[in-house]
Amino acid sequence: MTGHLDLSITVTSEEETRNLAKDLSQLLKVGDIVRLDGTLGAGKTAFARALIQSLAEQDLEVPSPTFNLLLLYDTPAGMVYHYDFYRLEDPEEIWELDIDDAYDSGITIMEWAERLEDLAPQNALRIELVITGDLESSRVLQITGDESWGRRLAGFSQGKTVND
Ligand SMILES: Nc1ncnc2c1ncn2[C@@H]1O[C@H](COP(=O)(O)OP(=O)(O)OP(=O)(O)O)[C@@H](O)[C@H]1O
Ligand SMILES: [Mg+2]
Repeated sequence: MTGHLDLSITVTSEEETRNLAKDLSQLLKVGDIVRLDGTLGAGKTAFARALIQSLAEQDLEVPSPTFNLLLLYDTPAGMVYHYDFYRLEDPEEIWELDIDDAYDSGITIMEWAERLEDLAPQNALRIELVITGDLESSRVLQITGDESWGRRLAGFSQGKTVND
């Protein structure tokens, strides 16, 4: 397990979630996949919105891709593919949603990746937002990834509230 990324950060406001997303955006490049997990209303789209606005270097409107399944953004950091697979009926449908282009030449952000079953990417940076119930706006962000993510996010937690 050495070198794997396994970080747990507590936030108490949506602004803190947004700030974490902005910090993460600085590390992202084409070919990266960010998987956002968590229950309905946990804050996956809120996190994605801050990430995309930061990559775009402007406060673009970033709606939830609930109905479109994919929304695309042309940003200075590269094309950003924002997926929401909640309404996916069959994992094989992803091939019709430009997933090859996303993986090859974009930054991929996905909500509800569990809908992909065996087709869920294994090399994603995974961020699970957990509603804690302490405050309405409290969340724990559980950030996990392989050794490559471990190297790239070494020091990411500096100055943040990290849970033991
Ligand atoms: N700390 C926080 N981080 C993120 N969102 C928060 C936080 N506190 C409160 N919120 C609120 O929680 C809601 C999160 O909604 P959002 O659409 O981002 O959830 P989601 O996980 O994408 O849900 P869905 O599964 O329906 O796509 C928003 O109304 C947001 O304002
Ligand atoms: Mg959402």
